[in-house]
Order: sequence, then C-alpha cells, then structure tokens
Amino acid sequence: MIKTIAILGGTGPAGMGLALRWARAGETIILGSREAQRAQEAAEKIKARAGSAARISGTENSAACGAADVLVLTVPFEGQAGLLKQLKPVIRSGSVLIDATVALAASVGGRASRTLGIWQGSAAQQAAELVPKGVSVAAAFHNLSAEMLNGDDPLDCDVVVCSDDPNASEVARNLAARIPGVRAIDGGRLENARMLEQITALLIGLNIRHKGHGGIRITGLPPGAYR
Ligand SMILES: NC(=O)c1ccc[n+]([C@@H]2O[C@H](COP(=O)([O-])OP(=O)(O)OC[C@H]3O[C@@H](n4cnc5c(N)ncnc54)[C@H](OP(=O)(O)O)[C@@H]3O)[C@@H](O)[C@H]2O)c1
Repeated sequence: MIKTIAILGGTGPAGMGLALRWARAGETIILGSREAQRAQEAAEKIKARAGSAARISGTENSAACGAADVLVLTVPFEGQAGLLKQLKPVIRSGSVLIDATVALAASVGGRASRTLGIWQGSAAQQAAELVPKGVSVAAAFHNLSAEMLNGDDPLDCDVVVCSDDPNASEVARNLAARIPGVRAIDGGRLENARMLEQITALLIGLNIRHKGHGGIRITGLPPGAYR
C-alpha cells in the first residue's frame, strides 16, 4: 500500500474513477482541484459509493500535492503545464508523479480522436521537464475508460506504464494492479508514452464509431510480464 495518493485535477471523470477504485482497494486518497470545495464535494461522492471507511478527502491542488508522495495528474492537456508550474514549489522531493494526460486535439478546438504534436514528444515528457529535480515521472492510465472506472464491474483493460525511473514504474504498476481486472505491464522508457497517448485517441474514435468503451489487452507475453 502507498502512503497517500494525491489526484490533481481529481474532480473530472478520470480522476474520480481512479479515486473510486483505489479508495475501494483501501488506499488513502486526496482529491485535488483548483477549488477546495469542489474537491471536498467530489470526495464525499466517492465516499458514498466506496463506503464510510474509505480514506478519501478533497482540497486545493497545492495542499493535496504537499501532503502526498505519489501524485497522479488527471487534467486536460491545456491545463497541464500551467498547473505543474504552479505546483513546482510544493511538490516534495522524492515524489513520484504519474501522468495520465492525453494531448487531444480537442484541447485547441480540434477532434477528440486526434492528438496534438508536442515538442517534447508526449504530454508525459512535457511533465518530466516541468517537475522539480528529484521527482520522477511515469506515464500510465491513458487507455482506461473513465466511464468503466466509474462503474462497479472489473475493467477489461491492461495498463502499460512508461518511465525512465524503475521506482516510478514500480509505483505506477502497483497502483494499476489495485484496479480489478487490470494487469500492469512495464512499457519501457518515458518516450514510449507518446504511443500510449495516441492509443487513447484511437480508442476515442473506436468508441464513437462503435458506441462502446474500448480498452486494450496486450497478449502473448510471459506471465511474469503482467502484474
Ligand atoms: N476521460 C477519460 O476516459 C480519460 C481516460 C484516460 C485519460 N484521460 C486523460 O486524463 C485527463 C483528465 O481527463 P478528464 O476526462 O477527467 O478531464 P476533465 O474532466 O476535462 O478535467 C479533469 C479536471 O481537471 C481540472 N481542470 C480543467 N481544466 C483545467 C486547467 N486549465 N487547469 C487546471 N486544472 C484544470 C478540473 O478540475 P477543477 O475544476 O476541479 O480544478 C477538471 O475536473 C485528460 O488529459 C484526459 O485526456 C481521460
């Protein structure tokens, strides 16, 4: 079990869904928001579903950040850089930041089934440039449907984790494996996050075309590759 997980931008569907699953798994969660009250209300909603023993609270993003060693970033791409710059002074050295951001073209008025080109290669690599020294970044959870995360059934999806830091990858894979139905797989270096982010755009297109909530399964690897 991880000490405390702060989910920054945790009031949206992706953050709330992850929080629900981890609260049910017994993790301690702080939901972060630009407005403390919004985060508190979101935390209460999750508590009502996960049970009164659930360890979940809500506060403003910087306070959440300063109280946790594991940070999960679930904001739209257009807010990612600004939020990380704002939080830089309060992110604890030695923290792990898990980035789930997808740079969808919808951020700039384009289609949700396309990604934007990013100078650094991916949103996760942009995040790695913006965190303080001593903070490691993993990319994960891009391909989980928030709709499914916010339900009660096990998910039918694998989570590929990309990071340049083995500890950050380990932390993210352990958290992924706490979600029922999810297997976590080491996806190699952070630069591979570019492909994870593009798969999300593909899944959005598939969901629109086929009216579903698609996910991915990686098959054919030896059992030890899956957590
Ligand atoms: N939805 C999915 O199925 C899914 C799946 C995988 C990955 N993702 C990725 O995960 C991220 C979050 O997805 P989502 O659907 O939950 O997004 P969202 O609802 O659009 O945003 C999540 C939260 O981010 C905060 N936020 C919005 N704009 C912001 C800004 N400019 N600066 C700082 N904070 C801002 C808001 O919280 P406050 O107003 O409370 O601050 C909002 O509730 C996105 O990058 C998305 O591409 C989504």
